[in-house]
Amino acid sequence: MSAIARASPAVLLRHTLLWASRRRRVQRLITAAPVARSLVRRFVAGEAIDDAVSVTRALRSQGLTITLDHLGEDIHDAGAARTAVDVYTALVRRLDGEGLTDRAEVSVKLSAVGQALDEQMAIGNAAEICAAARAAHTTVTIDMEDHTTTDATLHAVVALRASFPETGAVLQASLHRTEADCTALARSGSRVRLCKGAYQEPPSMAFLLRDEVRSSFLRCLRILITGNSYPMVATHDPLLIRAAAELFGALSTPGAGHEYQMLYGIRPDEQLRLARGGEMVRVYVPFGDQWYSYLMRRLAERPSNLALVLRALRTRS
Ligand code: FDA
Repeated sequence: MSAIARASPAVLLRHTLLWASRRRRVQRLITAAPVARSLVRRFVAGEAIDDAVSVTRALRSQGLTITLDHLGEDIHDAGAARTAVDVYTALVRRLDGEGLTDRAEVSVKLSAVGQALDEQMAIGNAAEICAAARAAHTTVTIDMEDHTTTDATLHAVVALRASFPETGAVLQASLHRTEADCTALARSGSRVRLCKGAYQEPPSMAFLLRDEVRSSFLRCLRILITGNSYPMVATHDPLLIRAAAELFGALSTPGAGHEYQMLYGIRPDEQLRLARGGEMVRVYVPFGDQWYSYLMRRLAERPSNLALVLRALRTRS
């Protein structure tokens, strides 16, 4: 029997939602549903730079730090990639002008700046964003997408770090390869966001069971800490947050630093609890009108959220 055939209903639902995240017809249905708007508001700051800036200001006033993501991925024309670069450069200038870059950086998906079209063009576009970010006194983290892009994305991070060593990388604990990738990136000053991984991956490449992913996460974190890098623990999982605190207490070199990261709209009380306890907490805040794939991944992480999707669809019919 295949791994999928043996999977629990929750796992099947997750696969279905991730499958739907890549289907244009389902996208048209969901994005046209009136209730989708209120669902989107829970996870997305709004469509415009103004919305991103006002959410940034509000989170900052609560003692949180921020990474802003302009929504849009899997771009297949150079014009759309150019637009993404322009939005990011305008955004970092605006953040700087408003005095927010002490607490806010940006996250960039290489597929939004043309990775599927031309890898060198995407690296050049990302470098332009890194240069604008540095001029605005802030940094860029390069998001990680599905396993078909891992090698190209890590290659791009190495290329970007040659001129912009402050560039953050992202590694996904669900992939079998990630311990080796952590070893390669673990060195002083290396900013590495460690997350579970949000994409549908084949069983030959990835751990499928929750506990396997958690164990991998902690093995990877241990490598990042002992390698003196700057780990960015991106999870809402209470078990991992507790275990990470223990690992930092036991293994961190003084001054190496670390931070916790969570998504906008998910466990906001926990974000504040950690920040009030003296931890650096960064909230990943997406904005823009291309929210469909992002929203579907958030729904897939919590299949009970499917009720919200079904309600959205019923309202339309
Ligand atoms: P898990 O999914 O087990 O959630 C733990 C608990 O958190 C749940 O029980 C629930 O209480 C709450 N929760 C989590 N997700 C929720 C949701 N959608 N709705 C409501 N409650 C929810 N992935 C990737 O592949 N590439 C990337 O670049 C990034 N970047 C990134 C940045 C940041 C800051 C974060 C926090 C996450 C990412 N991710 C990511 C996503 C990540 O890989 C993963 O899919 C999600 O964080 C969910 O996994 P958790 O570790 O939170 O655990």
